[in-house]
Amino acid sequence: MEKKIIVTGGAGYIGSHTCVELVKSGYTPIIIDNFSNSEKFIVDRVEELTGKKIEVEEGDCGDYEFVKSVFKKHAEVSGVIHFAAFKAVGESSNLPLKYYQNNLLSTIIMLKVMEEEGVSNFVFSSSCTVYGEPDQLPVTEDSPTKPAESPYGRTKQMCENIVTDFSKVTKGFKGIFLRYFNPIGAHPSSRIGELPIGAPNNLVPYITQTAAGIREKLTIFGNDYDTPDGTCIRDYIHVVDLAKAHIAALDYLLAEKEDCLEVFNVGTGNGNSVQEVVDTFQEVTGVKLNYEIGPRRAGDVEKVYSDATKVENGLKWKADISLAESLKDSWNWQQSLK
Ligand code: UD1
Repeated sequence: MEKKIIVTGGAGYIGSHTCVELVKSGYTPIIIDNFSNSEKFIVDRVEELTGKKIEVEEGDCGDYEFVKSVFKKHAEVSGVIHFAAFKAVGESSNLPLKYYQNNLLSTIIMLKVMEEEGVSNFVFSSSCTVYGEPDQLPVTEDSPTKPAESPYGRTKQMCENIVTDFSKVTKGFKGIFLRYFNPIGAHPSSRIGELPIGAPNNLVPYITQTAAGIREKLTIFGNDYDTPDGTCIRDYIHVVDLAKAHIAALDYLLAEKEDCLEVFNVGTGNGNSVQEVVDTFQEVTGVKLNYEIGPRRAGDVEKVYSDATKVENGLKWKADISLAESLKDSWNWQQSLK
């Protein structure tokens, strides 16, 4: 039987890579996207990469009537992967209501319509941001969540709470929170990748745009942290590996007979410093980066990287693309945008 999966935000960075992997694994993605932070040509590229026509429903996940009509139109949906959300940390502090309204409402509406339509399987895009500055490294799923530094981070925590409360009273509901660490890279074909609007906030797109001459200079935000080279440590995961974790999550949910709500960290299990990322990028691409050391960025966590044991055992999934390979793919994608 065809396994139809609604993918909200399916034209976005992680969503588009996940749609490719869904088709490869025999699922049929149905994209819901309002294209507020994504481009239609990316869907064409997903079709090109998969050789399949991809159904797209253009609209807002916060619009109940619209979401309802999508579920009615595509009867017998097997599950939902909910990516659609605003994600700019800085902007969220300036426009908190925009973030709360969009990120919370879309999640609530998805759950409400799933319940009404009898769809049980839900994969939610969460973030390692819920751990804040962890007390112990690597971070396991049992680590306490900490007050978030930004409204964006709070929306991720609040959505997890909403899903958790809903799951307790909804018979037949099965859910997974995937707490992503730092997604980087692009599809090895360079046909899909990240499309930041304006100056990127995240490290790797800033690096590739600097290397491409779009930005004059990269600033490393602080080298006086308590880490071996003084720069912050993160767990950088290739977006294709991350996409595959969603397939593993769906496979798990579809095979599970009992109601469940599981949390999995999705990272490589390795920490790399900002300086290591910069050095590796220069090494693998042969491009010299113009960079300087600047002051710390407010709200940055010193070091965070995942304990990947639970996801490896529970979902039979493991990241296998190296940092070097990931940075090469990011650079190839950047160059393809010329
Ligand atoms: C941020 C968010 C996280 C979100 C993720 C993806 C916070 C605390 N976390 O993660 O919730 O899921 O983005 O959108 O905001 N850096 C530089 N120079 C730059 C850019 C970044 O040195 O120009 C450094 C940062 O200080 C940090 C590292 O690179 O140490 C990674 O930064 P970034 O890519 O923005 O991701 P996070 O802050 O880890």
